[in-house]
Amino acid sequence: MQVTVVVPTFNEGPNVRELVRRIGDAADGLDVEVLFVDDSRDDTPDVIRQVAGSSGMPVRLLQRPEPVGGLSGAVVEGLRAARGEWVVVMDGDLQHPPEMVPVLLETAASTGADVVVASRYVGGGDAGGLDGRWRHLVSTASSLLARSMFPLRLRNVTDPMTGFFAVRTGSIDLAALRPRGFKILLEILARNKVVVVEEPFVFGERFAGQSKATFANGLRYLQQLTALRFGRMSTFALVGAFGAVLNLAIMWGLEQFGVHYMPAAVVSAAVTIVTNFLLLEHFVFHDLRSEGRSVWKRAAQSFTFNGIEAAVRLPFLHWLVVLTGMPPVLAQALTLVVAFLLRFVFHAQVVYRPRKDAPDRVTPLAGEPSTTTLDED
Ligand code: GDD
Ligand code: MN
Repeated sequence: MQVTVVVPTFNEGPNVRELVRRIGDAADGLDVEVLFVDDSRDDTPDVIRQVAGSSGMPVRLLQRPEPVGGLSGAVVEGLRAARGEWVVVMDGDLQHPPEMVPVLLETAASTGADVVVASRYVGGGDAGGLDGRWRHLVSTASSLLARSMFPLRLRNVTDPMTGFFAVRTGSIDLAALRPRGFKILLEILARNKVVVVEEPFVFGERFAGQSKATFANGLRYLQQLTALRFGRMSTFALVGAFGAVLNLAIMWGLEQFGVHYMPAAVVSAAVTIVTNFLLLEHFVFHDLRSEGRSVWKRAAQSFTFNGIEAAVRLPFLHWLVVLTGMPPVLAQALTLVVAFLLRFVFHAQVVYRPRKDAPDRVTPLAGEPSTTTLDED
């Protein structure tokens, strides 16, 4: 089996020699080439050429004239130029241990998967190398959101944000990818029907240099999610909006019959909560109802969330206004947005959470090349 290790680099000169040495040691006995896809503005290409000259395994350099699509664009160009039947994508700063390369490939061979994801969040995995609480929080929150938007495609994936994975090039449609920002794995998994398994790994410290992640990358990620799928989340939002209108209509109707506004509010809230649940069952999560829990359990979880949310939102609003001094309407808008996202994530991750595929269900899809549809199944 021929393997290409694709390494995107942006100013990683001091890491190149050590990286190639460790890949060489780890992949001893395998038919491996290393392909650097470089957008550097310093002497990194020279270092790569030097190291290539003295390395025992083939080391290639693809220098891009323009950094189109950033890190993700570089990875896709690497996938296109790779000679290997399998490609392992990894960072050039040694935060991804090269010793995992043969492990990922063995897992691929033993499970028959198309993609093996090196995950920081499964088994013995660890995200220790992420610097700072803030990065940890952002990473966890973005994974949760992605998994809520693609519950089926990502059912076996705990770490869709990782930049370390092995992929069988024949199983994906490269032309369908729209690379942007940092999250190429998500793009691959969302747009292709592939069998995925995970392997834990410990995300280490950078060997040399600095991270290139920026706030702009974070925004690009949200853009990417939006472009990939608004399907489930937008119907979820529609159901919510319908519920609000229904709530007002019932309250107004009851008042016409002379009902006091307090009991009217209680009745309309109760009717709305039940209607919302039924609409979610039929229009938003219909494909996930068979994933285990009974309808009563789902209803209980959904109602509990709504109850707690209603009880917490007002004190939270008060606290926000008093603490930050922001205008109450702005604070209210903020709490509503946060409540919406939390409600969506809770329903996708708890109420309708898909079961992981049992190991015996993880079998290759019969020779069929991948599709590019965004329907989840
Ligand atoms: N060719 C190219 N072009 N490479 C790039 C670019 C670019 O525009 N931007 C970054 N890279 C390279 C870096 O040189 C490095 O080899 C790799 O991409 C990862 O960049 P880092 O700057 O080390 O990113 P990080 O450590 O903050 O992010 C890592 O963690 C993320 C998960 O939290 C990366 O592994 C990401 O891939 C991963 O998603
Ligand atoms: Mn890094």
